[in-house]
Amino acid sequence: MIAAAGARLVRLLPPETAHTVTIRMLSRGLGVPAQAPELPVSTRVVMSRSGLRLCSPVGLAAGFDKNCEVPAAMARFGFGFVECGTVTPRAQEGNPRPRLFRLTEDRAVINRMGFNNEGLEPFAARLASFSRPVPIGANVGANKDSEDRIADYVTGIEAVAPYADYITINISSPNTPGLRGLQDRASLTALLARCGAADRQGKPVFLKVAPDLDEEAVADICSVLGADGSWLSGLIISNTTLARPASLRSEEKSEAGGLSGAPLFHPSTEVLRQFARRLEGGFDLIGAGGIASGRDAYVKVRAGASAVQLYSMLVYEGPGLAARIAWELSRCLAEDGFSALGEAVGKDL
Ligand SMILES: Cc1cc2nc3c(=O)[nH]c(=O)nc-3n(C[C@H](O)[C@H](O)[C@H](O)COP(=O)(O)O)c2cc1C
Repeated sequence: MIAAAGARLVRLLPPETAHTVTIRMLSRGLGVPAQAPELPVSTRVVMSRSGLRLCSPVGLAAGFDKNCEVPAAMARFGFGFVECGTVTPRAQEGNPRPRLFRLTEDRAVINRMGFNNEGLEPFAARLASFSRPVPIGANVGANKDSEDRIADYVTGIEAVAPYADYITINISSPNTPGLRGLQDRASLTALLARCGAADRQGKPVFLKVAPDLDEEAVADICSVLGADGSWLSGLIISNTTLARPASLRSEEKSEAGGLSGAPLFHPSTEVLRQFARRLEGGFDLIGAGGIASGRDAYVKVRAGASAVQLYSMLVYEGPGLAARIAWELSRCLAEDGFSALGEAVGKDL
């Protein structure tokens, strides 16, 4: 209750200030529940390739806790895993403000943060210091002015590997010019060769992709994964979109940056489905994009995801959303006669 009221108050502030205040409060333990909520048994999952054991398949997506300050606090709200970052080797300011916009009428967000973060050193030190009631992932990226972006990913992987429960290679932020080019066949082949040779200490590694991929691009990525990505555990599908659906009504709809939240649900689920069809269970898939309910999470599961992540809807629904989605998802499973989440994965393919 207190957390929900706090979330409503914080929403009265400009978006980035609200976010900064929220992180400060949480890092001091303010508004953090004394213990995690009870979660349904039927939604527990062990991801087959990465081996990640999740008490809930509902995770916190990257971007909320860029500097790894509050993963333990977020676990107390019922997230089954928490992804921190994106972190780049060196600290960077990100883009000029304003760079974060609420599209309230559309239940959406546009951001062009541009990997603002404090850099790997403090990130890794904090990551090392947390006890972990749930798996904590570290999402790594490249500095904007880097001359060798792939080297940044290698540096990131090696710095976080001793402490992270899993690592995400983020090549899909639309806010670092040229970054998404790493999804192209030749660049991805080079990236996977060099990151595959990095010392990742046996930790599972995921690749996070954009939703703005046509069938051919999806096919290309899958064929590179088959040839050079056998060491990867899976994919996170997806990051924010550069598309602006005609249905958007909010004034801020023309702001530059990545769009997330409700309008991203269908396009990101469609791309998830395309990957799932091609990869045929060969990789763990984590679905992200516009999840606001257990029903949304269930659609992603049936489209091939064995876990999901969310961020934008927290802005509108508050932090109780994670546990609520897990319970709604358990009811969706029961209605269709599934006793465990794993039975429903990919059922719509
Ligand atoms: C303000 C904001 C910042 C984000 N920053 C990152 C980031 O640093 N790294 C990343 O991989 N994804 C980032 N994302 C993308 C989210 O992790 C997620 O993939 C996307 O927003 C879709 O999920 P959602 O619709 O539930 O928000 C960010 C999203 C938002 C809204």
